[in-house]
Amino acid sequence: MTKYDLVLYGATGFTGKLVANYLASHPSGGHFSWAIAGRNPKKLTELRASLSGRGDGPGVVVAEASDAASVSSMVTDTRVVITTAGPYSEYHGDTLVECCARAGTDYADLSGEYWFQRRMIDEFHAEAQRTGTKIVVAAGVDSIPSDLGTQLAIERLEEGGARATQVKALFTDYAGSFSGGTARTLAAGRNLKKSGDYDDAFHEDPYVLAPEANVRGSGESVRGWDHLRCDRDFKRFGGPFFMAAINARIVRRSLALNRLLPCSYEEGISLGAWLKSGWLWMSRGFGYFVGAPIRFRPKRGEGPPLWLQRAGKFRVLIRARSESGAESVVVEVKGRGDPGDGATSKMFAEVGLCLALDREKLPTQGGVLTPATALGAALRERLCLAEGGAFMQFRVINL
Ligand SMILES: NC(=O)c1ccc[n+]([C@@H]2O[C@H](COP(=O)([O-])OP(=O)(O)OC[C@H]3O[C@@H](n4cnc5c(N)ncnc54)[C@H](OP(=O)(O)O)[C@@H]3O)[C@@H](O)[C@H]2O)c1
Repeated sequence: MTKYDLVLYGATGFTGKLVANYLASHPSGGHFSWAIAGRNPKKLTELRASLSGRGDGPGVVVAEASDAASVSSMVTDTRVVITTAGPYSEYHGDTLVECCARAGTDYADLSGEYWFQRRMIDEFHAEAQRTGTKIVVAAGVDSIPSDLGTQLAIERLEEGGARATQVKALFTDYAGSFSGGTARTLAAGRNLKKSGDYDDAFHEDPYVLAPEANVRGSGESVRGWDHLRCDRDFKRFGGPFFMAAINARIVRRSLALNRLLPCSYEEGISLGAWLKSGWLWMSRGFGYFVGAPIRFRPKRGEGPPLWLQRAGKFRVLIRARSESGAESVVVEVKGRGDPGDGATSKMFAEVGLCLALDREKLPTQGGVLTPATALGAALRERLCLAEGGAFMQFRVINL
């Protein structure tokens, strides 16, 4: 019998605190036992005191990421761990994944580091399959909207008797910013490329997260959408999107694990999304821009201001198409709040609750998985219900 249903590790960071606050005031409060965890007992106690909500409040667990004994003890006390202690490749994230895969404790992170994710696949996928443990990577705005939206579009196409061979996604809204941890993650990626630890073929492999892919599309690039062009399907100008490098790799892993290859995936962002985001910053963020420009390079523990966490938003259109092109389905995924922080923290908390409370609705397989392959429809349902339906929507639309 474990002590907790859910442990939030890295709770003292910028994103961790947002997740803790969301969990503390969740309508299911009192129906699940949980703890905040990290390496600094003083920060954890202060955070606990600042949380208000239902139930008895969270427990406190102290564990240093590089100390396998303390991480292992935390993991055996809970059914699920979700972690915001990242960049994961820098903060010994592998120790936690290894302990979870061995102990059978389900796990989720917000990693966008494909080199870390690939290492976890190589080292722990087989062990997690053996123990039936779900190790879910990329469980924030990268890559839940792209991954679950693609899954829904393909499911609907299949219900109509067709098989998807091409999926195209276009973000038409993406207004937000990023936190100190994300800035460090981006820097870690740049440093890794300079280090030469991996060759160009590794960095440029669109299927780097899908070593089990039996067939691959030919001529695909990592993002798929590499130039500004007017897209006929979406009737919009679209260009390369920086998050697509993360999302497209995750979607391809989902396609490979679900044996849906060959099916190409490309993802871009519309010109209109950049213009709308720019307008939001000019109209609402001018004081912030002038008063505190240093925050454009946030440090550890820092992130976007509250107004942006609330005023931000995202929307992606995803079209799945059959080989002949005669059948196609378009799915719209949209949400409120700064995608990188305000919205990600809510999505991530719901991922933790989905793993802890919705077990009977989830696919049974273990392994190093994606949001779609680990959680699928159960997570979609949760996200659509969150905040009384005001947070996120997934729906099939006519364009
Ligand atoms: N996917 C997405 O959409 C998305 C969105 C937002 C963030 N993220 C990712 O989430 C991660 C966190 O970002 P953030 O801005 O919240 O970072 P942050 O504010 O710097 O927080 C990092 C957390 O890691 C903890 N930590 C660092 N070293 C540790 C160690 N040795 N042992 C235990 N804990 C340790 C810190 O503890 P202390 O407080 O004790 O220093 C802190 O709780 C990053 O990887 C970021 O890329 C992803």
